[in-house]
Amino acid sequence: MRVDPSDTRQARRSTVAGRPRGILRLGHVDVTVTDLDLTSAYYTEVMGMEVVARDEDSVYLKCWDEEDHHSLRLRYAPRVGMDLMSFKVHHEDDLDDLENKVSRFGFPVQRISRGECLGQGESIRFSTPSGHVMELVHDVEKVGTSRLQHGPEKGAPGPGFRDRIAPPRMDHMLVTAEEVGEASQFYMDVLGFRITEQLLDGNGHQLGAWLERSHSPHDLAIVHGPNGGLHHFAFWLDDWDDVRDAADILAYNGIQLDVGPTRHGVTRGSTIYFFDPLGTRNEVFTGGYRPDPDFPTLTWTEDNIGRAVFYYEGELNDRFMKVHT
Ligand SMILES: [Fe+2]
Repeated sequence: MRVDPSDTRQARRSTVAGRPRGILRLGHVDVTVTDLDLTSAYYTEVMGMEVVARDEDSVYLKCWDEEDHHSLRLRYAPRVGMDLMSFKVHHEDDLDDLENKVSRFGFPVQRISRGECLGQGESIRFSTPSGHVMELVHDVEKVGTSRLQHGPEKGAPGPGFRDRIAPPRMDHMLVTAEEVGEASQFYMDVLGFRITEQLLDGNGHQLGAWLERSHSPHDLAIVHGPNGGLHHFAFWLDDWDDVRDAADILAYNGIQLDVGPTRHGVTRGSTIYFFDPLGTRNEVFTGGYRPDPDFPTLTWTEDNIGRAVFYYEGELNDRFMKVHT
């Protein structure tokens, strides 16, 4: 059959009909905050995200190059923490398939109906062995972006955008687990994540695991720590120049840096870690490699943990290891 490349209906049909299946990418991160106004101001005025919607207790934000409804939900609560991590699946019936797999593993799955969550249709939710609530959803409202459709622009148009970091999209998140090996096995065996890199202690136990679905070095990573903890979520930047600009913008705004700018050994990405005004760790990230499904897992051992995490410094700092929300 001849395909007319200008026929977008054709492109859409082939996307729906084809493989792959299962989890597509990180959709949104839902965190709790004790001050909605303060954090909203930070995520818009410093980070440069756009407010998509507000309701009685939450603000929904997205990055300028994201089409989906939101990639970050800030919900007012008495303590700072994490509500859930939401991953998008390729097809609606992937939800049935993954619901069965999680149920067979022995974890109850909750169905969330259309209309219960802003900007998205039906989803499933369950707890994971790392003590996190995970949501899977296919039907997410497309709100479009403010960019020109075919332009090379790196940032949202409009005056003053360079005063903000303005990442094009959310990239990945890192959570903590008491038993990293058990948790990563669940994400791989039940949910189909592929492992790109791992960090092992002297006995061969996993201290860290980096997992992907979107052919990036990681969509979800797990390091040793308390169950249910959020170490950070990370925004994508296009190149090292943008990381340097981000450092300038953070310094100008008096934002506390945690580490960087530097490079990771694991993922090879360039990075800065810093905290939002309530102490949730953010990262800006660029670089890395593109792992295909046949990518062999890279293994780091505890004796070179410094280089694995911070390649230039070659050592970890205490705050990076101990602070999470
Ligand atoms: Fe990260």
